[in-house]
Amino acid sequence: MTESNSSLKDLEDDIPTRRQGKFTVIKDRGLFALCSDDVNGYLQHNEIWEFGIYDEYEENVYGDVLVAGLGLGYALRCVRTNRDVTSIDCVEIEQDIIDLVWDFVKEDRYNVFCADITEYLGRVTKEYDFILLDIYGVDPSERTNSARALCNLAKQRLKRGGTLQIVRINDGVFTIP
Ligand SMILES: C[S@@+](CC[C@H](N)C(=O)[O-])C[C@H]1O[C@@H](n2cnc3c(N)ncnc32)[C@H](O)[C@@H]1O
Repeated sequence: MTESNSSLKDLEDDIPTRRQGKFTVIKDRGLFALCSDDVNGYLQHNEIWEFGIYDEYEENVYGDVLVAGLGLGYALRCVRTNRDVTSIDCVEIEQDIIDLVWDFVKEDRYNVFCADITEYLGRVTKEYDFILLDIYGVDPSERTNSARALCNLAKQRLKRGGTLQIVRINDGVFTIP
C-alpha cells in the first residue's frame, strides 16, 4: 500500500458516518461517500481517488496552497506527509460539510474558510504557489463563461510561476496554462 493509499484508508476510518443538515457521510460495503439531499447520487465517493484522479495534483503540489472544495478532505489528507507543502487554505461553501469533515483532516499548516470561492478570490490579497479548484457539481472546466471567469480570478492570486489545476468530473486533474 502506498503512503497516500494508507493515508486514505485512515481517512475512511477517521471520518464517522454522520448526518449534518442536508449532508451525510456514508460507509457501505467499501463505498465511502458524501451525499447531499439535493443531489441524485453522491457529491463525492472514494472511487474517484482510487482511480487516480488526483495523481497529477499529488505529484505537483507545493508551497502555499489554496484548495477550493473541502468535500471528504482527500486533497488535504493525501499531502499530509509532503513537506513541500507549506500551508493549505481550504475554501468550502457549506458549513455543514466543514462540520462533518474538518476535525478529521485538519493540521497546523491548514486553515479552512466558509465562503464561495469566487467571493473569496475577489477579496483576498494573499498569493499562492498552487491553486486546486475542486468544486465539481459546479464544474470548473473552462468551457463556460463563469468557469473561465473563475479560472481568471484564480490566476490573479497565483505567485509568479505558480500552478493552477482544476478537477473535471470523472475526468482528472488538469493544469491550466
Ligand atoms: C468534490 S467535493 C471536493 C473534494 C475535495 N477537494 C477532496 O479532495 O476531497 C466539492 C466540494 O466543493 C464545494 N463547493 C461547491 N461549490 C463551491 C463554491 N462555489 N465555493 C466553495 N466550495 C464549493 C462543495 O460543497 C463540495 O464540498
